[in-house]
Amino acid sequence: MDDHYEPDEDGYPREIVGPWVLDKHHFLRHYVTASQGARGRMGGSHCLIDLYCGPGKARIRETQSLVPGGTLTAVDAAARSHRGNAVPFSRVFIADLLEDNVTACKARLFATSNTHVTSFVGAAETNVHKVVANLPRRGIHLAYLDPYSLPQLPFSVLKALADAPRVDLLIHFAASDMARNLERRDLWPRFDAVAPGWQDSCDTNRGKSMVRHQFFAHWTKLLQDLGYHVSDRIVSVKNTRRREIYRLVLASKHKLGDNIWRTLNDRSGQKGLSL
Ligand SMILES: C[S@@+](CC[C@H](N)C(=O)[O-])C[C@H]1O[C@@H](n2cnc3c(N)ncnc32)[C@H](O)[C@@H]1O
Repeated sequence: MDDHYEPDEDGYPREIVGPWVLDKHHFLRHYVTASQGARGRMGGSHCLIDLYCGPGKARIRETQSLVPGGTLTAVDAAARSHRGNAVPFSRVFIADLLEDNVTACKARLFATSNTHVTSFVGAAETNVHKVVANLPRRGIHLAYLDPYSLPQLPFSVLKALADAPRVDLLIHFAASDMARNLERRDLWPRFDAVAPGWQDSCDTNRGKSMVRHQFFAHWTKLLQDLGYHVSDRIVSVKNTRRREIYRLVLASKHKLGDNIWRTLNDRSGQKGLSL
C-alpha cells in the first residue's frame, strides 16, 4: 500500500486525501440532486460512470474525518428524494487502474446501496469503451472523471464518452499538474494526448500564465467541438496557501446541465462564482 492509502476498519484500503476533496464531493452531490428532475422527466435508465473510482472511502489528512468516495456520494444523492422525487441510478460503472480500489469500492457500494454495479480494472482509456458499449440508449448518464493528473485523462476518454448516447461530464481538471509541469518544455509531450494540437494553438513563447490560459482554452474548445456545452462557471479549488489545485468543469450535451451547474452554491454558500 503506498502512502496514498491506509487500511480501514472494514479491511479495505481507504485513501488519504486533502480537505479540498470536500469541494469536489459537494459539487458532485448537489449536481446529482439538482438534476433529478431532468432525469425523471427524460425517463429511461440513468447510469453513473466513474472510471477513476478509488477505494470508495477516504480519510482527510491530519484529521480523523472519514468521507465516502465520489461514487458512493453520487449514488446516495440520486437515491434521496428531492422535491418529492428520487431518481436513483439504475446502473453504476466503476473502474480504476488498481484492482484493490475496484474491489473496495464495489464492496462499499454493495454495503450501502442496492444499485447494479459493473466494474472493470485497468486504464480509463481502455475501460471507457467497455462502459460505452453497455450504456442504455435512453437516459441521462453522468461520467465523473477524477484522475490525479492530466495525462491520466487523455482526450480519447472524453471522445469515447461523447460518441455515446447522452453522457454529461463532471471533470476534475488537475490544474496543479498544469501549473507545475506545463512550464517545462521537456514535459510537453505528456500533454499532447490530453489536449491534442495544443502546441499549435498556443503561443508557447508567451509567459507561463498565458500558456496555461491558452492550454485550458484549447482543451475547452476541443470539448465544445465534440458537441458539449462547457459551462463557463469553472469551479477553482485552492489550497490553504491560495494555490489552485484543481478545477471542476461541467460539460453537458444539453444546455440544461449548464443551467443547473450555475445554480449550485459553493461550500461557503456563494452561487456561481467563476474562475
Ligand atoms: C483522485 S483518485 C479517485 C478518487 C475517487 N474518484 C473519489 O472521488 O473518491 C484517482 C484514482 O485514479 C486512479 N488512476 C490513476 N490513473 C488511472 C488511469 N490511467 N486509469 C484509471 N484509473 C487511474 C488511481 O488509482 C486513483 O484511484
